[in-house]
Amino acid sequence: MPPPLRHLMTLADLPPAEINRIIAHAFSLKQRSKPWLTPPDAAAATDRIKNLRLPSQSLFGKTVALLFSKRSTRTRVAAETSAELLGGRALFLGREDIQLGVNESARDTAKVLSGMCQGIFARVGDHSEIEELAKWSDVPVMNALSSLWHPTQILADILTLQENAALFDPTLKEDSIKNEKRAQPKLLDLPPLTVAYVGDSANVLHDMLVSYPRMGHKLRVASPKQYRAPTEVWDRVQQLGCDKNIVWVEDPKEAVEGANVVVTDTWISMGQEAEKEERLRAFKGYQVTEALCKGADPHWKFLHCLPRKPHEVDDEVFYGPRSLVFQEAENRKWTIMAMFDILFGRWALEVEGAQA
Ligand code: CP
Ligand code: NVA
Repeated sequence: MPPPLRHLMTLADLPPAEINRIIAHAFSLKQRSKPWLTPPDAAAATDRIKNLRLPSQSLFGKTVALLFSKRSTRTRVAAETSAELLGGRALFLGREDIQLGVNESARDTAKVLSGMCQGIFARVGDHSEIEELAKWSDVPVMNALSSLWHPTQILADILTLQENAALFDPTLKEDSIKNEKRAQPKLLDLPPLTVAYVGDSANVLHDMLVSYPRMGHKLRVASPKQYRAPTEVWDRVQQLGCDKNIVWVEDPKEAVEGANVVVTDTWISMGQEAEKEERLRAFKGYQVTEALCKGADPHWKFLHCLPRKPHEVDDEVFYGPRSLVFQEAENRKWTIMAMFDILFGRWALEVEGAQA
């Protein structure tokens, strides 16, 4: 019997313990693939390189289909470089390359790709498109961004926050200094955080809504009323009991009060270009700046999924010492690699085992 087929549509699909396991795996893959990271001294660095265990080659001889109907820098590069490190190949299939949506249905595309590839990582327009792919695919399907969710983004955000745990809890600082002296650095647990999201309620925020409260963090969201989460997202939030730890406000200053982390995303997501003027008007006053965040925790940090436009966050914050955005961008790779290993690599190995 082949193992049950699993997909990743949103982090709402995963219990918190599983999210934690994925983050730990991503951190370990990062350490193994970059053994020179934070070496306290030459001896520790040599020790780490000597004990280097290469990432599992779970994708050896296997192919992941990257079905992207929208642009991407981070997600695509993370996927292609990860597949290679796992011993496999990622096959980029852009909207201009294949028959999907022009001459062929999602159902037929999923069936055909399932016959030749061991996983599908898809970036789609409407969320129903990825649900349709998952419904008909015989191999696992992972969401690389849809109109409703962006699960792999939030995995990277959680890893970034955890790597910086000592910044949020001074008592962890001493621990992390000891930790840095070890040959193998350890990921520290995060203290409960207050995370403020300022901006449009879109895919990135939606995966925060279904994950952060279950991991012990409070969310304060500032969004104009007409741009709040759609019913299908809010239903999942409520089913998971996350709503109790989420506060919605209209005033961004109110949202960032006491926040440890401030997050924003574009005000105009891919596909919403026609609404640009209307949205720029609606989000006036939502730009993340030092002045806006005067009431936040003095040590607050900044996250953004990128790509970024200066109207949603100014240069001082974006390029300043509070910003974790480029570490966050790199962590897209290690978290996507962890998911590829678990969902595509190991699943495929189990199937091969079952057939042997
Ligand atoms: N954050 C993110 O998904 O970036 P890309 O659109 O470049 O993949
Ligand atoms: N909300 C943005 C995220 C980009 C990574 C979009 O959907 O375009």
